[in-house]
Amino acid sequence: KKIVTIIGARPQFVKAAVISRLIKEKYSNEITEYLVHTGQHYDANMSDIFFDEMKIPKPDLNLEVGSGSHGKMTGLMLQKIEEVLLEQKPDALLIYGDTNSTLAGALAASKILIPVVHIEAGLRSYNMAMPEEQNRILSDHVSTLLLCPTQTAIDNLKREGITKGVSLTGDVMFDASIFYRTLENTNSLLPKLPEDFFLATIHRAENTDSKERLTNIVRALNDCGKNGVLPLHPRTKKYLDMYGLTFNKNIMLIDPVGYFDMLELEAKANMIVTDSGGVQKEAYFFNKPCVTLRDQTEWVETVEAGWNKIVGSEYNDILDAISNFVPPQAHPDLYGDGNSGDKIVKELLKLWNSAI
Ligand code: UD1
Ligand code: UDP
Repeated sequence: KKIVTIIGARPQFVKAAVISRLIKEKYSNEITEYLVHTGQHYDANMSDIFFDEMKIPKPDLNLEVGSGSHGKMTGLMLQKIEEVLLEQKPDALLIYGDTNSTLAGALAASKILIPVVHIEAGLRSYNMAMPEEQNRILSDHVSTLLLCPTQTAIDNLKREGITKGVSLTGDVMFDASIFYRTLENTNSLLPKLPEDFFLATIHRAENTDSKERLTNIVRALNDCGKNGVLPLHPRTKKYLDMYGLTFNKNIMLIDPVGYFDMLELEAKANMIVTDSGGVQKEAYFFNKPCVTLRDQTEWVETVEAGWNKIVGSEYNDILDAISNFVPPQAHPDLYGDGNSGDKIVKELLKLWNSAI
């Protein structure tokens, strides 16, 4: 059987690293994968570095759509992915997460009746103003197989009337963090790090595209009295320049880093301050308190467990959390047993067997 996989943005490379490796190393008799990179992320440190370091198979095709407005980017992808699907005639299409690349893949395949398999299905922030929330909901509603990292995700789908094809697999990012953590970080590009620091990442549109929110966040990090290391997403760089915002010396700005360096930063940091979905979870995997610069999260289990504090973008709330947030001792397993990849591939094989 053949699948076409659509990836295009940084978090999708991390997730595909788990599944594509498994398919190649363990399931190559049953599945052939045709890997399509949409080109949504294209800087070397947002794309190539992940393929090289994580040994992700080279994409069979890069659609090179680049950056643009939502409509332009998604439309271009939709058109090009349809062409690929008509040519490749796969037995299923595999998509990850909630980016524009995810939605374009989902729409292209479902219209021509190719089953859509969605990894990380069922996540909801219940904030429809987020492009990711729109992408998730629309993708889930045209998916045949919905592979959920958490019971919360399954419950969310049930609320929308989706129960068929749904299964609980755990989280592939947990698999990735376990697998790659054991490998040596031989090509590190990290500068000398401060003794004691928090790791910060910021890129969510709701923060970068609002001058008020981004200003509050920058001011709070500048004034928090602690050292931070911040790998800067190109989107955020663009908006900082546009608003004329700068960080003080206590915040060490670095270029986006590869996954191995990111794991090293997460392991060494004493706290993580972020608006990223993936990084909130990784904070939990590394037993680090997480301060989330958003008004809600999809990863509610981390909040319920007491390890993630949602602070939004208010100056005082951010300062208070960075100084005072202490998680509890208890740290239950929330994201599976590290074998989610295998469960996912088995569900995919079951889909085909049941269809025969
Ligand atoms: C996208 C996803 C978001 C995900 C994030 C992961 C959508 C709607 N958003 O957000 O869900 O969390 O990726 O990082 O799909 N840029 C570069 N070089 C690159 C890539 C981007 O300079 O290689 C700059 C461009 O100015 C571009 C901007 O970043 O316009 C935003 O890129 P885009 O892919 O539209 O969204 P992200 O913010 O990266
Ligand atoms: N990441 C990375 N280098 C960075 C920032 C993030 O390797 O400079 C990794 C991070 O460890 C996680 C993934 O990228 O595995 C998360 O991607 P991102 O925060 O861009 O997107 P989100 O998860 O919010 O969609």
